[in-house]
Amino acid sequence: MMAKNLFLLPGDGIGPEAMGEVRKIIGYMNSAMKADFVLDEGLVGGCAYDAYGAAISEEDMAKAMKADAVLFGAVGGPKWDHVPYEVRPEAGLLRLRKDLELFANLRPAICYPALASASSLKPELVEGLDILIVRELTGGVYFGEPKEIIDLGNGQKRGIDTQVYDTYEIERIASVAFELARTRKNAVCSMEKRNVMKSGVLWNQVVTETHKRSYPDVKLEHMLADAGGMQLVRQPKQFDVIVTDNLFGDMLSDVAAMLTGSLGMLPSASLGAPDAKTGKRKALYEPVHGSAPDIAGKGIANPIAMIASFAMCLRYSFNMVKEADNLEKAIANVLDQGIRTGDIMAEGCQKVGTSEMGDAILKEFANLS
Ligand code: NAI
Ligand code: MG
Repeated sequence: MMAKNLFLLPGDGIGPEAMGEVRKIIGYMNSAMKADFVLDEGLVGGCAYDAYGAAISEEDMAKAMKADAVLFGAVGGPKWDHVPYEVRPEAGLLRLRKDLELFANLRPAICYPALASASSLKPELVEGLDILIVRELTGGVYFGEPKEIIDLGNGQKRGIDTQVYDTYEIERIASVAFELARTRKNAVCSMEKRNVMKSGVLWNQVVTETHKRSYPDVKLEHMLADAGGMQLVRQPKQFDVIVTDNLFGDMLSDVAAMLTGSLGMLPSASLGAPDAKTGKRKALYEPVHGSAPDIAGKGIANPIAMIASFAMCLRYSFNMVKEADNLEKAIANVLDQGIRTGDIMAEGCQKVGTSEMGDAILKEFANLS
């Protein structure tokens, strides 16, 4: 079996605590399942700034570029609020996204049955929810030029951002969405604002053409992004895969995430283009939450978002579908047993710390494997 090279960047705050629980699972998979993961580890964020004066070193960047997948914890914290803009902790993540060309951001919104009553929606609307938002991550209004504030000279200023999408950018994100849909319920809903935006007209055309040309077997629907937002909170279970641009995706993925509960539960993946020779995509997996300085170092952080991010890594980078399913099932089972970290604690449940939660999930995972 080919070695699977993982590059770990635990980062700051609760990042290393959460990553420790993933290390346990990897250790188990290597010894009991001969999974052949080879681990290397680097510094990113504030800890890298303290060590090298940069948010990530060139050496670690090179390792991230070579790895089969990067597992990223979280960066930042009040200690580094004063550091110069170019080397602030977030710069490490932005550099990784840019150099690895991670244009597809995958944000699942899954509702674990045991947590359905914690949703802001009625439990019956979210129970069994399993949707995947595919957000374009490297284009659109966050990067388009011109992007500036102009002094109009009459006491007025003008702020300008520009939404730009080229055909190839829409084609490649649409392809990711269609391919993922085929491994799920085979349905994609594309969201834009073609009624008021030229980039939305092009988005709609290119998604439609990509579908017709290469993925006619997948069910495709188009929605205006504002209506899509309404549908997402009205009847979220109607969706399977949602594909949308950087700006709408930023908002819609946060909305979808909160349908299903706490920040400590939410994983994500960011994928690049397939390699021309091997077909493998560069990939980075990270929890949605940040470094949680308020609880860092106390051993109480919820490791589920990080562990679920690793499950996505198994699924998307290594095609270890059964192992990914089992790991996700293990999380659901532990929640069913009433085991909870503080952030998801509920009446009648057993409160545990980071390490106990990781152990409980590993035990279930071992039982299922
Ligand atoms: P945050 O996600 O770190 O924390 C928000 C709240 O949720 C806090 O009360 C925290 O204790 C709680 N929380 C988050 N993750 C949790 C977990 N796994 N278990 C239990 N509770 C959890 O966001 P915040 O406070 O806005 O930012 C803190 C720092 O993290 C800042 O320096 C920010 O820049 C950075 N950050 C980094 C991100 C990244 O590395 N991708 C993303 C978001 C923020
Ligand atoms: Mg956001």
